[in-house]
Amino acid sequence: MNQQELKQAVAQAAVDYILPKLESDTILGIGTGSTAALFIDALAGHKGLFQGAVSSSEASARQLEGYGIPVYDLNEVDRLLVYVDGADEANARLQLIKGGGAALTREKIVTACADEFVCIADESKWVPVLGKFPLPVEVIPMARSFVARELVKMGGSPEHRHGCTTDNGNHILDVHGLEIHQPAELESAINQIPGVVTNGLFALRPADVLLLGTNDGVKTLYPHS
Ligand code: 5RP
Repeated sequence: MNQQELKQAVAQAAVDYILPKLESDTILGIGTGSTAALFIDALAGHKGLFQGAVSSSEASARQLEGYGIPVYDLNEVDRLLVYVDGADEANARLQLIKGGGAALTREKIVTACADEFVCIADESKWVPVLGKFPLPVEVIPMARSFVARELVKMGGSPEHRHGCTTDNGNHILDVHGLEIHQPAELESAINQIPGVVTNGLFALRPADVLLLGTNDGVKTLYPHS
């Protein structure tokens, strides 16, 4: 199977995973990116089985609304049963790098509100050590150069993602050259730099389950300590 077919398989697997949990008042958290978009496509046929969704981006919100799925502001919602989203990298602890689609801050907020985080990814995202994929860091525009200098001190090579403004009006630095052996520590340390909104490490709150699309089928993986 090619990567697109693997993404389609995990999107369908995620629908199968959440279907038994859905109730008429369920509100789902839904992520951003090509895998999340395929999940929305697969979910649309079941829209009568749940109340609606909170989305981590304007793009996903538009897609959901196009299917007639109600999209809620997170401030209106007490509880998200589950958050389903893709990733750029995942390790055996289900710690992730996310933010290739620049939605990392809203993704982290919605993740934090969800009882369960279901990550969906094809096997190209599975890595022994995080960091080959450049780590996205969302920054307040006026702090971009300062934050970049601080990231260099931490051993990274930050690159401004030109032409990219996040849904929150901020900029993205993609940090190359990191070999991340202590993801939770690095996530905290980067977030301490003034001007950083958040970074794309999901280690303090990793995924609870990873549906990984492989040529041997979709594997359901739980965190290894
Ligand atoms: C967006 C993300 C995406 O989940 C991540 O980039 C994976 O994208 P795709 O499913 O297109 O491979 O974090 O900010």
